[in-house]
Amino acid sequence: MERFSISMDDGLLKKFDRNLKKHGYSNRSEAVRDLVRKTLIDEEWKAGEEVVGVITLVFDHHQRQLQDKLTEVQHDHHDLIISSTHVHLDHDNCLEVIIVKGEAATVRKLADQLKATRGVKSSELTSASTGKKL
Ligand code: NI
Repeated sequence: MERFSISMDDGLLKKFDRNLKKHGYSNRSEAVRDLVRKTLIDEEWKAGEEVVGVITLVFDHHQRQLQDKLTEVQHDHHDLIISSTHVHLDHDNCLEVIIVKGEAATVRKLADQLKATRGVKSSELTSASTGKKL
């Protein structure tokens, strides 16, 4: 591991220290490493490389044919989907977690399509990385 020093003005450093304490970092180095990793993952997603991610959906169990629609969209993109899990959250709501892998723009398009389906209450695409190129 290499060491290097960073110059930062006092105000920014104070904010950074407060922020890393809030997020449970014990030292600046680990916080900086995570920031760099996050930036590189964002770059991977922008560059259209193969990425891995998780789509999290919460939707209305009672909305007519919604489950069928969401399943149909997933079947249309079966090549992108590694695994999915359905949880019956409560009487009215379902949670679905879909693990995806593929070209960044295609994965994002799938996430957008699921998000735009009527009756979907919340939808998140979490970008991850194998770290091979990081
Ligand atoms: Ni359910």
